[in-house]
Amino acid sequence: MVALGTAVFILVVALLGVGLVRSGASAEGNQRSPSPWWLLGGGVALPSIVITVVLVATVVTMRALPDQAGTAPGLTIEVTGSQWQWDVVYPDHGVRSVNEVHVPAGEAVLLRLRSTDVIHSFWVPALAGKMDALPDHDNTLIVEADEPGTYGGACAEFCGLGHTGMRITVVAHDRAGFERWLENGARRG
Ligand code: CUA
Repeated sequence: MVALGTAVFILVVALLGVGLVRSGASAEGNQRSPSPWWLLGGGVALPSIVITVVLVATVVTMRALPDQAGTAPGLTIEVTGSQWQWDVVYPDHGVRSVNEVHVPAGEAVLLRLRSTDVIHSFWVPALAGKMDALPDHDNTLIVEADEPGTYGGACAEFCGLGHTGMRITVVAHDRAGFERWLENGARRG
């Protein structure tokens, strides 16, 4: 879009320059009226082509986005917001936790976000942008922590009196550490 916008800008400025020079040159002579083809070409055809190109590029890019965020995540975690905590469930492992999402570092993980009451927003700024947790629709968010460590976050949608306390922590383990955490979690039940 920057390249296309620059090309259009240069073209418009160049035409403006030509117009100014010509109008100055013909100021004393007869004014020539512009050909209607300039209006049809510059006012209809060219914008249509530019908008079509941008539209196609946008649709293609948007369709490719989930793939760019990571190759098919191996792990799905269900994160449910409610007033005022996050319940975290690992459906494939029978493990759950509260206000903590444990993930393997260096792997793309799919979070399935929902809410039991009002709209919350899952936000761990070091890992991803905000994503709403809605009562009537599942949103998904792919996160990938490059390094093991602890990543702080919070609910980013005002959701009542306890909103400011609705913290979330993502704990990224190395692969072995994550397996251990899952096993301990399964034993806890
Ligand atoms: Cu939940 Cu703010």
